[in-house]
Amino acid sequence: MRSIRGWLLVFLVGLVLFPQAVVAGPDPEHRSLLATDGIHDPASRALGLLQDPARGEEGFPADRTGAINWAATLQRGLITPRTGITGSEPMKSLDSVIIMTNTRTMPHVTFPHGTHTQWLDCSNCHSEIFLPVAKGNPVTMNAILRGQYCGVCHGKVAFSPMVCERCHNVLHADSPKAWW
Ligand code: HEC
Ligand code: HEC
Ligand code: HEC
Repeated sequence: MRSIRGWLLVFLVGLVLFPQAVVAGPDPEHRSLLATDGIHDPASRALGLLQDPARGEEGFPADRTGAINWAATLQRGLITPRTGITGSEPMKSLDSVIIMTNTRTMPHVTFPHGTHTQWLDCSNCHSEIFLPVAKGNPVTMNAILRGQYCGVCHGKVAFSPMVCERCHNVLHADSPKAWW
């Protein structure tokens, strides 16, 4: 049997580690967000212990559609993702920017290696998705929208292919002179 002092200690440790669960129970606003996401069990008391995504992402820059602009979030130092499971894995980055010009009357596409290699390894793209050869890949918008090339990630784990201007951002002689 635990003594009264023993139980008091358990309560105090709980209070320090999980104050919300011990004192107030899950906060109702927080609960409703996680409870309606279709992933968490709405009946679980443990919901109160999890970070509310809306609060965790407060103040993160958004793009035109209201989605979080993760590239800007990283650049501003609002997040510092680990390089791997332990955090000490080396990362190889590359600064080259490739301008992709097969865009008809749309502004040309900027492909920044820098932004991508802050999160990804060369092997995530080379050579299964792209041959590492400038103008060496027959990329079309149709293929991207079907989930190939840039569309392996964009629209799934990176911003949507519907936000045209984030990729097509280099105006040229045959393109409209401004966006929207
Ligand atoms: C994730 C980046 C990205 C986004 C977002 C994007 N595109 Fe593209 N788009 C590309 C790339 C890459 C190419 C191929 C360029 C090349 O091979 O030189 C391309 C090519 C094109 C082409 C010319 C080739 C073709 O398939 O006809 C058109 C037109 C086009 N895009 C329209 C759009 C429109 C409209 C939108 C928004 C609804 C859009 N794109 C959004 C990356 C993007
Ligand atoms: C997110 C996908 C992606 C990642 C990650 C990536 N690349 Fe690329 N890489 C591309 C694309 C797209 C092209 C352009 C292909 C084209 O124009 O058809 C390219 C082109 C290249 C080229 C040929 C063009 C040039 O600049 O000489 C080399 C070399 C290259 N990549 C090396 C690397 C290395 C090294 C890494 C890792 C540090 C890397 N890439 C990471 C997508 C990626
Ligand atoms: C292997 C996954 C992957 C592929 C393939 C990929 N991207 Fe990305 N891309 C990302 C991620 C992750 C980010 C950062 C998250 C975000 O901005 O949504 C990103 C960000 C970007 C940005 C934002 C840069 C900034 O500074 O705002 C551009 C532009 C972009 N990608 C263009 C492209 C184009 C064009 C292609 C195809 C030629 C492509 N990406 C292929 C994963 C990918």
